[in-house]
Amino acid sequence: MSALIKWKNHHIEDVEVNLLLHALNERYGYDFTGYAKASLKRRLLELVSYFDIEHLSQLIPIMLYDEAVAQTVINSISVPTSDFFRDPFVWLHLRTHVLPELASFPRINIWQAGCGHGQEVYSLAILLHELGLAKKSHIFCTDINPEFLDDAKKGCWSTRNADIWRENYQKSGGNGTLSDFFIEQENKMFIRANYKQNIEFIQHNLVIDDVFKEVQLVICRNVLLYFGTDLQNHVLTLFTRSLERGGYLLLGRGENILNLKEQHLQLELRDTSLQLYRKTMDMDSNV
Ligand SMILES: C[S@@+](CC[C@H](N)C(=O)[O-])C[C@H]1O[C@@H](n2cnc3c(N)ncnc32)[C@H](O)[C@@H]1O
Repeated sequence: MSALIKWKNHHIEDVEVNLLLHALNERYGYDFTGYAKASLKRRLLELVSYFDIEHLSQLIPIMLYDEAVAQTVINSISVPTSDFFRDPFVWLHLRTHVLPELASFPRINIWQAGCGHGQEVYSLAILLHELGLAKKSHIFCTDINPEFLDDAKKGCWSTRNADIWRENYQKSGGNGTLSDFFIEQENKMFIRANYKQNIEFIQHNLVIDDVFKEVQLVICRNVLLYFGTDLQNHVLTLFTRSLERGGYLLLGRGENILNLKEQHLQLELRDTSLQLYRKTMDMDSNV
């Protein structure tokens, strides 16, 4: 008997992680089982000290009955790290190449998936305004996490990182000033209302929900890196279905999908350092 317990001890944290993920899915409909295991486990185990419990499995009954605790667990899995004009050279390329090319479309539909607290979607809105494309653009801004979406909708952040935003914005080719886009009040930066006009905020889970159709640009940066390979493939299929032929997919730096399945041959890599892909014009494919 004791030998069995000792043997089981090697796996006990994995068992606890699996049980917790199962409970979260059964009770709240959030399926994180396809996420990359190592980082998921690390983030969940951080909750042990946060909630001052001895074992992760003790969190399961608490989470089942207490929605606020469940939300904390969901927040710890869906990491919202972001910034305005993060990786400015990517935004410079959007400004000088991708968006001017899309300008020839009568309407520009953009799906920005995994918006966190909204820094990325408003960076995009600012670019569209500066290029005179805002009026004919529509952005589907989505995230799995309703709390992050609410924050994104509010469009309010601490002034703490304003210097970094200014620097990023300038490196991205912008020549305005932050006060063109934000109203500063009591250590907070509020995005000006006109940058919200063409954005539709929608709760959307890349694991279970369907696509937005006839999109010319999908931006999904720093989301796939949290997913396991099967889930990455599933999401890339969604994006391929969503895009019009000739449309662009922008992933995060380090999210190289070239070694993924053949179905993504419909996506050709345009620039490795940007992780920018384009849906081919090949009419034979049935995706
Ligand atoms: C690291 S943030 C990326 C924010 C922004 N895209 C950027 O790169 O600056 C990852 C975001 O993906 C969202 N996310 C995680 N799993 C998701 C899913 N299954 N469906 C939709 N969004 C998801 C998280 O809630 C989080 O807001």
